[in-house]
Order: sequence, then structure tokens, then C-alpha cells
Amino acid sequence: MVDASLSEIKEQSKVLLRVDYNMPRVNGKWLVNERLTQTLPIINQCLKKQCSILLVSHLGRPEPGFYQAEYSFKTLVPILAQTLQRPVRLLPDWPNRPPDLMPGEVGLAENTRFLKGETSNSTDLSKAMVANIDVVIMDAFACAHRSHASTVGMMRQAKQVLLGTNHQAEIEAIQSITHQTGQNRLALIGGKKLSTKLPLLRQLLKFFPTLCVGGGLANTLLYAQGYPLGCSWIEYDHLKQAEAFLKLAGQHDCRVYVPKDVVVSQGSPKPGADIRTVPINAIQPNECIVDIGPDSVAEYKNVINQQSYSYWNGPMGIYELDFGKRASIQLAKQLSGGRALVGGGDTLSCIKAMPDLTFTHKSTGGGSFLHLLANQTSPVLEAYRASIRETISQ
Ligand code: 3PG
Ligand code: MG
Repeated sequence: MVDASLSEIKEQSKVLLRVDYNMPRVNGKWLVNERLTQTLPIINQCLKKQCSILLVSHLGRPEPGFYQAEYSFKTLVPILAQTLQRPVRLLPDWPNRPPDLMPGEVGLAENTRFLKGETSNSTDLSKAMVANIDVVIMDAFACAHRSHASTVGMMRQAKQVLLGTNHQAEIEAIQSITHQTGQNRLALIGGKKLSTKLPLLRQLLKFFPTLCVGGGLANTLLYAQGYPLGCSWIEYDHLKQAEAFLKLAGQHDCRVYVPKDVVVSQGSPKPGADIRTVPINAIQPNECIVDIGPDSVAEYKNVINQQSYSYWNGPMGIYELDFGKRASIQLAKQLSGGRALVGGGDTLSCIKAMPDLTFTHKSTGGGSFLHLLANQTSPVLEAYRASIRETISQ
């Protein structure tokens, strides 16, 4: 898709493209997904105009104010250069040192979250970020729910702001969900942390009468229900919230399916560990949940079949391990071809090896998708609207 609004960009402009290259890495190897591949058409479109392009993204959640090698974009540079078929320069000192990119050159700024003031949305930092930039293209839909210096901060300070094609497509997909009527709507929610998804899960109860859960998030819910889960990942400091969430779901008449069986590793989950399948009430103290089990998969498949559409966010198991991705793969196959939206960086990486599967929409956003769904707007969208109002009133 070519973004019509990019036609507004003048030849040889200095473009800052806010992307979300916050993609999973396993043992240092990048699991590249649509968060990167979807940005290529915009980059190429700008290159055709001989623009210089500064790519800006965050990665992970490092301690602000420090460089931490494991969160550096250094190892992404060769991947990006190979994909774009042109050199890409890492800019480690940006924005302290302004970008000195030539027309037609691509630079990748180092992780914005190394910068003090990024997550606290420092005005000085966002001003520095757009110094010397003609236009900011905000395409990082996956962090549209974050009010950070490199998102809303920068948009407030920029001379001109455009919303990228991918961002626009995501908004349209969400609108298509909220315009749906009828009772048969399912949210299939996995991923590791219940704590980060809870506020949005609560909102989801308004849209989805049925929920199927998996991943670490389900462990915390199951433990709160009283199941001993051995050495499985559990957020012990969120058990009260887990209980309260299940109660709230009941009040909303939302049926929550939890795994009835699971795959467990003997000892900590790592490659080569011994695994077995057990009913949810038969986990031994030295066993850790790595995936939901075949009975649960069969039940969830059955639930999927009864829906007019489904939304899936978050893997059902530790998908980075071979034995932790089986349920997610089977459920992805079941969702494929039907009316299904799938989203989130981990979910996309989890299904990357199955390009033939078809979904109504693949969202790069996890939290941001849920945020927009629940609130019908996002901090980034508000900043964009404000920038348009300002342009009109000038
Ligand atoms: C994501 O992966 O959901 C986005 O990149 C946002 O990351 P964050 O939750 O660390 O802000
Ligand atoms: Mg994430």
C-alpha cells in the first residue's frame, strides 16, 4: 500500500520515521516480524524522493539513562541493511549529536529508552529529537498508547506530522471490530504478564462475551483459583487482582475458559527439557507449565468454531521453545480463513513460520490495539489531531 499523505513530502526532506522495531529476540537472534517488514514500503517511498530517513524506535524496557548492550539496535542494523539492500548507519549519540544523514541515506537511532526523559516525556528531549527534521511520520502503531518523548512529545514539537499507512490501517481494523454486533465474539488472550494486560482485559469484557486464556497470564489466574502450579511462572503479587478480574468477568456475563490441561517441563523450561502433558490439577512441585495441553486446544478450537469473529493476542505457551508453541500453532490454523484479528509482537513472531495462514487483519500492536479498542483513541492519535488543528489554525 502506498501512503497518499506521503505525497505531501517534498523532495530531499529530512524525514524522521517513528517505527516500532521492538521485536522479540531469542539468544540474541532477532525474530523479525511485520513490525519491520511493514515499514519497508514507506521507507522506499521516501527514498524515491531522495529524502534522508532517520528511523527511531524503542526496544524493551531498559533502565532509563544507561546504555545496555542487550537492548541495543546494533545487531538489527545488518538485518535492516540486507532487507533494504542499502547501507544503514547506526546513530548511537542521537539526539545529542544531530543526524548528519545525506539525501537518500538511512540511519537508525539507538534505542530511545536509553535516553533519560524518554518515558517521562521530557520536552527538552523531544525538541532535540526533531531539531533539523522537516517531517515526522508516526507509523509506530504498537506504541500509540505511550506518551513518551519519541511519540507524543516529538509530535508536539515537529514542524509537520503525518500518520503512516500502517498506523492508518490499524485504526480502520479496530473500527471494524467496534462496529460489529452480535454475541459470538471471542478474545483469545495469552502472553506472559497478567499485570500489564489487566487494565485492558477489564475493558475487553465490554466487547467480548467469551474469553479463552493461555500463557503465563493464565497461570496467574489459575493459581488465584487455587491450583498448585509447581515451578510455573506466576505473578504472585497480582493474585488479588487476578481474583477480582475473574469476579468482574462473571458480573459482565463473560465466560472465561482457562486451560484444563497443560504441557509441563521437568525443572525449568529450557531446550531439551523432558516434558509431559498433565491435567491442570496434577502438576508436581518440580514441573513448570510451558504450553496449554491438547484437551484445552480441542476445547478452544470448538469455542472458535462457534464465533462470528475472534481476536487473538499473545502466545498460549513459551513459544520461543519448540515444545511451547504447539498450541498456538494449532489455534492459529483454526483461526485462519475465518474472521479473525491477530495482534501483538510476540503473536506475529509466533506465526511467522506459517505465511499461508490468512487473517482479517494482523495487528503489530498488542497493548496499543487493546487500548484503542477500549478507548476509541490513543495519546498518539490525540497528538496527531492536535497537530492538524494547529496547522489549520495557522
Ligand atoms: C509493545 O511491544 O507492546 C510496544 O512496543 C510497546 O512496548 P512497551 O509495552 O514496552 O511500551
Ligand atoms: Mg510487547
